[in-house]
Amino acid sequence: MALKINSLGGYIHEYQKSVNTPEKFWAEIADNFYWRKKWDKVVEWNFEEPRVEWFKNAKLNITENIFERNLFTHADKPAIIWEPNDPNEAHITLTYKELYEKVCQFANVLKGKGIEKGDRVIIYMPMVPEAAIAMLACARVGAVHSIVFAGFSSSALADRIEDCKAKMVITSDGNFRGTKKIPVKAVVDEALEAKSSIENVIVLQRTKQDVTMTAGRDTWWHEACEGVSTENKAEEMDSEDMLFILYTSGSTGKPKGVVHTCGGYMVYTAYTFQNVFHYNPGDIYWCTADVGWITGHSYIVYGPLVSGATSMMFEGVPTFPDAGRFWEVVAKHKVNQFYTAPTAIRALQAYGLDPVTKHDLSSLKVLGSVGEPINEEAWHWYHTHIGKGKCPIVDTWWQTETGGILISPLPGITPTKPSYATLPLPGVQPVIVDSEGKELKGNSVEGNLCIKFPWPSMIRTTYGDHERCRTTYFSTYPGMYFTGDGVKRDEDGYYRILGRVDDVINVSGHRMGTAEVENAINEHPLVIESAVVGYPHDIKGQGIYAYVIADMSASETDTEEELAKEIILTVSKIIGPIAKPDKVQIVSGLPKTRSGKIMRRILRKVAEGDISNLGDTSTLLNPEIVDELIAKAGLA
Ligand code: WTA
Repeated sequence: MALKINSLGGYIHEYQKSVNTPEKFWAEIADNFYWRKKWDKVVEWNFEEPRVEWFKNAKLNITENIFERNLFTHADKPAIIWEPNDPNEAHITLTYKELYEKVCQFANVLKGKGIEKGDRVIIYMPMVPEAAIAMLACARVGAVHSIVFAGFSSSALADRIEDCKAKMVITSDGNFRGTKKIPVKAVVDEALEAKSSIENVIVLQRTKQDVTMTAGRDTWWHEACEGVSTENKAEEMDSEDMLFILYTSGSTGKPKGVVHTCGGYMVYTAYTFQNVFHYNPGDIYWCTADVGWITGHSYIVYGPLVSGATSMMFEGVPTFPDAGRFWEVVAKHKVNQFYTAPTAIRALQAYGLDPVTKHDLSSLKVLGSVGEPINEEAWHWYHTHIGKGKCPIVDTWWQTETGGILISPLPGITPTKPSYATLPLPGVQPVIVDSEGKELKGNSVEGNLCIKFPWPSMIRTTYGDHERCRTTYFSTYPGMYFTGDGVKRDEDGYYRILGRVDDVINVSGHRMGTAEVENAINEHPLVIESAVVGYPHDIKGQGIYAYVIADMSASETDTEEELAKEIILTVSKIIGPIAKPDKVQIVSGLPKTRSGKIMRRILRKVAEGDISNLGDTSTLLNPEIVDELIAKAGLA
């Protein structure tokens, strides 16, 4: 594909072209794809409603761009290499032709179960090739997939099923993670206990653990596929038809369903995949994310496969059977591009160099980072010990809502700086604004990050509630998309992401809304009120700190310690283990302003262990509470 930028001059040229003549720029890129019918207009948009349409009236199916377009040249090339949790189990390679046949067959299964274009299908699965097959089969028939990370609880799953009125769940019996066998189907069963819109459940056999199959509703994957044709004609989709919904946390309320559409998402993820990772034919590319997150969607499945690349999928965890697993897999498959999260790097760094030096990492050419700011120490460790000083690190900044990477170095092209995402990709027009919304022009400025021009893979709406999309992203700074992130543009014009400026905590690269965690804590019968903040955590980036007011008198047995444990368990049950607070402090009150608003700034300071600069607390309704917080946190 002729989409690749090869020099800094080339980048500058392409960037300027993308700003000066965006329609021409994107039309030329989109010409590299297979459209059943081309567009009438490249982009139509306004950020007031908001309404964003790319490649208007074009017709396509993204899976035809993965399969039909590539099969003549790529049929026997590996599309997916799957590495299982247990290194003693054989890995699986699926060529483009094999994957094509499996996708077509499963697409026919979906149709046989009554799934039609536009229907929503929930995928709740571990990291197995069938998760990708399920996604692509949905795309093939025009169904809208919504993957729910298999670590979420049954109630989180039930909420998502209910929100998008899904007709089907695709799941597995269980999930292998390290030494553990985790039930998956049982969680689905619990989620479906109450009346729901789900008509069918398809269950992949993976762990062979006992599960209950409900007659008339549940079918085994292998039985459903028996005798089903491997030929399937792809549904014709409009460029702006929905491709998928992915739920993500924000600062208020329940997670919202971010909607991505077919045409723009395809063009942007493939274009950025090829440029950011400098993928060359024959390379083995590995992204360690889970398909349950946007990174798995855009940079394990769609971007790489539309590009005809070989994409690795890994079922396990970085520390099983030992902390050298990532590096063993890199050596085993001669991985060329490796894309992971700072959390994983920091966790592995703690095990020292023995697990690293044992393995031959000489195949690596490009290293990537995503999900949270990468601290300088982790950056240097990654660069020196994994990349042996010769692999550029692409620190890629983006979001579920942006669909693809927006700010990132191009490897070997953009000079990198530790902890900087560096420069916007072509087509991306970042703006830094102050709290009043005034644009801060020039270099050496710091403020909130907005984007002022649409890019093809941006969020179109939040499912079932367009107004929520408008108020969340397009109303804070009218005429711009607001990212929720703070940013600095340094003296060289390089961007450094500073983290969230809203009530979102980024735990190990996973977004959690403070309100969402508080709502879960408040479900505990003894809890009266709670406030949750993030605090710096050595490995996870941010940890969750919960301040809880509880009615201890209502319990005869609980000590504060026991209560804290129960609260953690409650959150795990309601959202999932990833949302578990790291610290719970039982308090008699929360610092509030005279209008009753919780002063989170004080809570954050105490959680950080920094009480040197609490600011003026005299305006509080209850200034005396601050001393109690400090004393109880052991800071007095
Ligand atoms: C953060 C993940 C710093 C950021 C793709 C963003 C980052 C949120 C980076 C989105 C990075 C992501 N440097 N921060 N390279 N990448 N973030 O939706 O705060 O799970 O808003 O998408 O992660 O998280 P999400």
